[in-house]
Order: sequence, then C-alpha cells, then structure tokens
Amino acid sequence: MANPFMPSEVFNIYKNKSNLNWIVLFISIVISGGSIYYTDVLVKQLKQRERRQIELFAKALEYTINESSKRDVYFITEEILFQNNSIPTILVDKQGKIGDYRNIEIDSSWSASKVSFTLNKELKKMKDEYDPIDVNFKDPETDEIYDTQFIYYRNSFLLTQLTYYPYIQLSVIAIFAFIAYLAFNYSKAAEQNRVWVGMAKETAHQLGTPISSLIAWLEFLKTDKHFKDSNIITELDKDIKKLMLITERFSSIGSVPILNEENIVEVINNSVSYLRSRVSSKVNMEVHAMHDNISANINVPLFEWVIENICKNAVDAMGGEGNLHINIVEGSDWRVFVDISDDGKGIPKSKLKQVFNPGFTTKKRGWGLGLTLAKRIIENYHNGKVYVKSSEPDKGTTFRIVLRRKKPEPTA
Ligand SMILES: Nc1ncnc2c1ncn2[C@@H]1O[C@H](COP(=O)(O)OP(=O)(O)O)[C@@H](O)[C@H]1O
Ligand SMILES: [Mg+2]
Repeated sequence: MANPFMPSEVFNIYKNKSNLNWIVLFISIVISGGSIYYTDVLVKQLKQRERRQIELFAKALEYTINESSKRDVYFITEEILFQNNSIPTILVDKQGKIGDYRNIEIDSSWSASKVSFTLNKELKKMKDEYDPIDVNFKDPETDEIYDTQFIYYRNSFLLTQLTYYPYIQLSVIAIFAFIAYLAFNYSKAAEQNRVWVGMAKETAHQLGTPISSLIAWLEFLKTDKHFKDSNIITELDKDIKKLMLITERFSSIGSVPILNEENIVEVINNSVSYLRSRVSSKVNMEVHAMHDNISANINVPLFEWVIENICKNAVDAMGGEGNLHINIVEGSDWRVFVDISDDGKGIPKSKLKQVFNPGFTTKKRGWGLGLTLAKRIIENYHNGKVYVKSSEPDKGTTFRIVLRRKKPEPTA
C-alpha cells in the first residue's frame, strides 16, 4: 500500500517550483510587452494628432496673413492659433531666419544672443524629429504664392512624458517586485529556521524521558543475577549510547552549537569505524590525511552526522560493493577540505543542482533530507561549504566539505 507520507507526495511542491518560476517570468514579460506596446499605440495616435494640430495651425497662420483684410476671419484664426499652447513650434523663412516661436521657454531677461542660441538649439532638435509644414503666403488679388515659410515643431511635453512612462512604470514595478521577493525569501528562511530548530528541540526533549528510564532499567538489570555478564547488557548499553548520541545531535541542532578546535582526522576515523561495522564488508572504506593532526572548528556530534549522511549516500550509490575514500587536506587561508569519493552510480548532470533540496530523493525509502541537513549543518552552523565537487554517471561522485581552521592569535 502507498505510504501516505511518501516523500514524493509530501514534497511535490519542490518539483513544481521551477515551473512556477517560468510561468511567473512569462506572465511578467507578456504584461511588460503589452504595456509597452499599448503605450506605443497611444503615442503614435497622439503624434498624428499633434501633426494635424500643427497643420491646422499652419493653415490658420496662412489665412490670417492672406485674408487679414477681413477682420472677422482674423478673430477665428487667432482663436485657433492660441489653441496651440503645448506643442513647441518655430517659424522659419526661406533663408533659415527664425521668425515667430511658441511654447519654448524663453525668459524675457535673457540677452538676445542667449535667446538666439536657445532657439537655434531647439530648431536643430525639431529638424531631427519631424519634417516642417509649409506656410504659403499668397497675393490676395492674384492668388499667387509670393513667399513660403516653414513651421518646425516637436513633441509636446505630454507626449514626451508618455513615451518614457511605461519604462519608468515598469522599472518602479520591477524594483518593488525585487524588494518583495527579497522580503519573501527572508521570511521563508526565517520560518524554515524556526521549524528546524523547533522540531529538533522537541525531538531531543521527547527522547530524553524514555532514555533516562532505559538507563535506570539497565542499571537494574546489571544487578540481576540472570542478566549479569550476559551480552544483552552490552548490546543494550550500545543502543542506549546510540540513542543518547541521537538526542545530543538533535539538541545541538536546536540551539546555537559551540564550535571547538578539533582534530578532524580523529573525528572522521571514529565515524568511519562506526560505519564500517554497519555496512557490507564488500565496501572498502579508507581515510587519507596529509598528516595525523589536522584541526578544524567543528561541533563534533553535528559534524559526525554530516559525515554519516554523506557516507551512507555513497554506500547506497554503490549497490553493496565498492570503494569509499575520504581525503582530508589542509588548505591555504585557514581552510580544511574533506573530499568524500565513491565509485557508485553517480549523479546525472540535470540533478546536480537538486540533490541538496529538501525532499529530493531517488530512493524508494528515502526522505531526501540527508543532504539538506548536511548543508544546513555545514553552512549555517560551521560557516563552511558543502557541494558536489564532481560526479560522473557510473564512475562515481565526490562531495567536498570546506571547513575553517582558527587563525592563531597574532603574537606581538
Ligand atoms: N554519492 C552519491 N552518489 C549518487 N547519488 C547521490 C549521492 N549522494 C546523494 N545522491 C542523490 O541525492 C539524493 C538525496 O540524498 P539525501 O538528501 O541524502 O536523501 P536520501 O538519501 O533520503 O535519498 C539521493 O536520493 C541520491 O539520488
Ligand atoms: Mg541520504
């Protein structure tokens, strides 16, 4: 029957997470693209409208000059001329001399040269933006064109703003989303921390009572003449010691663990001899070290837990037979490297990033928490690093742990 707590059911969300990221990214791109496209349509329409407005302005100007004898017309055209109170325009004659201008910021206190300089600069910008609109002056009698001038113009301030608007808007949204994302990640990490610490403390606490009771029973059995000297006592003693070690691990991870300068060659050798007695004799385990005393800053029960987890995975990967090598190297800048290599089935490239995710497992009876725990212990509690150094399908895998050594106090 299916176990309701099978990891695949419990941690399914992690498998969908990367898909979700793509969907969010896709939707954001569609929204941004849509927003930019729609504004672009608006800008194009407004540009056409401004062009028409300038054309009308030009017509009105022509009319005013050509028909200036008729006073009533003058009022109407003047009305149209003043309608343009947002689009900057400059009227230039055939020789390129600037005549009338509108909606260009010019202060009355400026000197003539400054005014001319500003107008010429504006004119250059306008020439780059749009073709001018002709204003033809006609003789009212013969209807003959005797002069042509040109109206140059550029986008109104409103239109200019609108062109930049989507980019500003999207940048603001992006910044906001980024901050929200950071805040969300931070609170998620804080929540995970509380769950880890709480679960660990609770487990240690719950184990405490039956263990004390077991110890008392063991003492009682030792005095019983039937059990005295039997190996039941020694086996029970071993199991109780193991239970106490588990409790110690859980209580260490549930509090701020104290790191001490330890000889990790010795610590690793101890863990390996413990494991050796528990795995198939066809698995050959070896520890190599540069020298016999390499110290690192560690918490022993937690570090042993990491070594156990990584070694157990290595043994699992071999399918009962193979070689496991641990190499301890004293590195430069106060680092210590522990490389754990196996010649097992390896990790496919596509899975390399996932092995440390909680719930990632390829085993029927796996929980996918061993490496998550190892990473947490090494990175959060030891300020070190743990990663897959190399892995090749059917050749084997090497995990690397990087620890820190204490720098000696500088001597004066
Ligand atoms: N040495 C290794 N060789 C091959 N695969 C490994 C090795 N170590 C870890 N893995 C892969 O990483 C997965 C996660 O490991 P772990 O977090 O310890 O969970 P579990 O052991 O419960 O599956 C394993 O199921 C396995 O697929
Ligand atoms: Mg494991």
